[in-house]
Amino acid sequence: MIIYNDDNRLKISFKLNNELIQKQVKPRQLLSDFLRFDCGMTGTHVGCEHGICGACTILFNNEPVRSCLMLAPQIDNSEITTIEGISENSSYDDLREAFKKYHALQCGYCTPGFITTIVYLLEKKQFLKEEEIREKLSGNICRCTGYTGIVKAVEEVFLNRFKKSKND
Ligand code: FES
Ligand code: FES
Repeated sequence: MIIYNDDNRLKISFKLNNELIQKQVKPRQLLSDFLRFDCGMTGTHVGCEHGICGACTILFNNEPVRSCLMLAPQIDNSEITTIEGISENSSYDDLREAFKKYHALQCGYCTPGFITTIVYLLEKKQFLKEEEIREKLSGNICRCTGYTGIVKAVEEVFLNRFKKSKND
């Protein structure tokens, strides 16, 4: 339940990277700003601020969403995972290694949004082919890498986790 205080702020409770949090939020504050400035989750990057680039992608109840398109009060009673929560999870060591191996990042600005989307796809535990990976990641924009390294890295992780060879 949302409670208004004297400041006209709303009191919300939610899980952030598995930790229960209570905060007071302004009714019209963007979720991306709230996570960055009020919760210190600065790995959630803001690029376009209108739902195009995917840099601000987080997991909201385990589904990828663009945090620049949500308001902070909307996460009351939900579970939020940011790149900080993912980076502490050793289940994704293979993804980190593959990103290093294939030089899948340069400036790294887009990387938290990509990784968050990829984690969502990996948790579905279904093999994806290269074309499918390209399509699923098409909502995330990278201005540096040309995408080849990112797709190769993700392809390798999917092959290793869910299939033995590219031609199976
Ligand atoms: S900053 Fe949210 S989609 Fe670009
Ligand atoms: S690595 Fe620079 S925008 Fe993707």
